Amino acid sequence: MGAWPRVVVLGSVNMDLVTRVGRRPAPGETVMGTEFVTVPGGKGANQAVAAARSGAQVRFVGAVGADGFGVELTATLVAAGVDVGLLRRVDGASGVASIVVDAGGENSIIVVAGANGLVRELTDGELAAIAQADVLLCQLEIPVETVLVAARHARAAGTVVAVNPSPVRPLPDELWDVVDIAIVNSLEFEHYSTELGQVPHLVRTLGADGAVYRGADGEVVAPGRRVEVVDTTGAGDAFAGAFVARWGQGPEMALNWANAAGAVATTSLGASSSIPDRARIAAELDAD
Ligand code: RIB
Repeated sequence: MGAWPRVVVLGSVNMDLVTRVGRRPAPGETVMGTEFVTVPGGKGANQAVAAARSGAQVRFVGAVGADGFGVELTATLVAAGVDVGLLRRVDGASGVASIVVDAGGENSIIVVAGANGLVRELTDGELAAIAQADVLLCQLEIPVETVLVAARHARAAGTVVAVNPSPVRPLPDELWDVVDIAIVNSLEFEHYSTELGQVPHLVRTLGADGAVYRGADGEVVAPGRRVEVVDTTGAGDAFAGAFVARWGQGPEMALNWANAAGAVATTSLGASSSIPDRARIAAELDAD
């Protein structure tokens, strides 16, 4: 794998409908929000943008709907330098995420899959792209069966399989057999603790406390970085995309790079809009 790997991201694209509030409402309660914005997001698209902004050559496999959101979501990927030649435009609505962000930067998210739920099979062209890539990066906002087909195909072709198993869902055991790199937060770490034991490279993000990598050659720790948190939405995606973009330079480089990317992503509102590029990540690391 070269310094700048060829990455295929298979995953979701959503339009995020983001509301800021002082505190998130309790069940049955109405609270007044302070700001509302629409921001391109989706775990797949965010991770693709993050990998591209970190310097990887990224192709995206997924689907948007035949609506205005689909046009805007596609344009955002293109602007970030992501190859959208394999992005499908299907009948119906694009995926949307309703997001509430509180004063502490913590969020609650409801996703309606829309077009993402229609990615149920992979075309010959998509499979060929996966086989030609250095790394396949997947999450779980598209049908799990499709993730399994892609991961098996990648493994057979010698493509590194990286999975961010988010949001938590039941997964077939066969998927874990072909995962090379798992990137999880603490909630996912607890949920998949048994299965993660068999994954060769495990990366655990710890929120404000940084991240830890564990592999056959030992452990690497990246301590938490001091930043002014505005919105944590997409920080995990910024981390995952940045990590795979630097995977060819070894776990220590990848972890520290991704840790800085994730930290910077918390300092402004929105998901894809807050993902830093190479220069910004390098500046963050230079400040150490
Ligand atoms: O991980 C953050 C993302 O989760 C948001 O962009 C939203 O679209 C949901 O998919």
